[in-house]
Amino acid sequence: MKAIKKICCIGAGYVGGPTMSVIADRCPHITINVVDTNKLRINQWNDPDLEKLPVYEPGLKEIIQRCRNKNLFFSVNVQKHIEEADMIFISVNTPTKTKGIGAGKASDLKWIEASARQIGKYARGETIVVEKSTLPVKTAETIKEILFSSLKSGPEKNRKLNKFCILSNPEFLAEGTAIDDLENPDRVLIGGEDEKAIEALKAIYLNWVKGNKIITTDLWSSELSKLIANAFLAQRVSSINSISALCEATQANVNEVANAIGMDKRIGKFFLNAGPGFGGSCFKKDILNLVYICNHYGLKEVANYWEKVLEINDWQKKRLTKLVVEKMFGNISGKTITVLGFAFKSNTNDTRESPAITICKDLLEEGCFLSIFDPKVRLNQIISDLDINPITIDSNGNNLGGWQYANSIDDAVKGSDAIIILSDWREFYNLDYKTIISKMRKPCWIFDTRNVVDINAAKKSGFNVWSLGRSNL
Ligand code: NAD
Ligand code: UGA
Repeated sequence: MKAIKKICCIGAGYVGGPTMSVIADRCPHITINVVDTNKLRINQWNDPDLEKLPVYEPGLKEIIQRCRNKNLFFSVNVQKHIEEADMIFISVNTPTKTKGIGAGKASDLKWIEASARQIGKYARGETIVVEKSTLPVKTAETIKEILFSSLKSGPEKNRKLNKFCILSNPEFLAEGTAIDDLENPDRVLIGGEDEKAIEALKAIYLNWVKGNKIITTDLWSSELSKLIANAFLAQRVSSINSISALCEATQANVNEVANAIGMDKRIGKFFLNAGPGFGGSCFKKDILNLVYICNHYGLKEVANYWEKVLEINDWQKKRLTKLVVEKMFGNISGKTITVLGFAFKSNTNDTRESPAITICKDLLEEGCFLSIFDPKVRLNQIISDLDINPITIDSNGNNLGGWQYANSIDDAVKGSDAIIILSDWREFYNLDYKTIISKMRKPCWIFDTRNVVDINAAKKSGFNVWSLGRSNL
């Protein structure tokens, strides 16, 4: 296998963009073209104003500044860059199917299939195709079939020259820490059969990752490991969230329980923060997919086991809304609640499956007015997620319900009856409770679903405080 000089990545999303940026940064000898059919997204990646990049990740804009238009390019010219590439990463979306067989559970592989067909049509010579997207086990089989059938039916000259190798190289980055995760991965996983292709991909990572962190497996173990890693992580969140409710009922403190159990090496201290439920584009879809695969293989008990992780997650979101209503004298109609944090976690602008979406919709359903602030999520994104236009005011100036987008915490809290903190952005720790409460209507509540509030300081300033997983307070 020849040395890799040109890479094409299909899909300029939350994985394709940051992953290729880090490879470009660490491998100046390789030219990388990230292609996408979404013109707007490509334009945003090419925007001279780095605040307009489509993905917010700490450290990303600095890398873009260093590499863009040097050895890192963003383009809509899919054909050209597939033709020229020695290695092609498929980083396209694999959401849950919304209709047809397996709807609501199975992954929709239409974007994967389209990518494979594009590669089959345009690739030239020896090409290594790398699955970067998260895929159901055995998807490499489908990709292989599409690629090899293109060899049988393609133009004569391609048939002679083309050769494809397929590798699985799932991505384990988490949003908000993507650059650090990519620069210092716990492990890099490569699944495949062709030793030379595996070595070629390994050689790229060896530019910055130690050899003992790069593990190789067969294709199917690699594909499955990615789904299972996400299922185990989500399971931990659901486990601690279920215990948060028990702590509230028993005067225990979920943080102390998490700390005590996490000090056991066998359990480990990470990923034990109780919260409003996990969000993000992947945990839910990957578990649904796992459930679908288990059912497909007749493993009903296994499927049911994993489905419970999702049930607890939904329950956690619902119980929070109920609790807010109960604490606010059983009625929030006509009241204003400030929502701090709309992204599914801090340090990202991504709102996919954010618990804030469900919780805000449920609160609006109860008739309150929401004032929403997030440091990175834009107004249009919230409009699209809530599917309700902001501020509904009648001709007499009466608020008929709805919501408003606030540009700062100070703006958000004006006239509010309560604050609910839904993600753990730095700026939500150590709020200036005294100043904030002076702008609110009394009595005021603060509902902390992320354990960021200094309870004593907030109470001293006059807030009623409810904090997740504590016998409140
Ligand atoms: P995304 O939706 O942000 O990006 C996917 C991009 O692919 C979109 O911009 C879309 O326009 C483009 N695309 C789709 N089909 C195309 C085609 N045929 N040609 C060119 N472009 C095409 O998705 P994402 O969050 O980057 O996730 C991509 C994959 O990576 C998914 O399988 C996901 O499960 C997995 N993953 C995501 C994360 C994460 O943190 N978001 C982490 C690890 C793995
Ligand atoms: C997750 C995994 O952590 C990544 O390894 C994986 O690559 C990625 O999914 C993917 O396949 O998409 P991500 O969803 O970006 O990454 O972010 P996480 O940090 O895992 O958080 C997921 C959700 O769980 C967030 O809503 C977060 O607030 C919540 N969470 C996480 C908690 O409530 N408590 C915790 O202790 C940890």
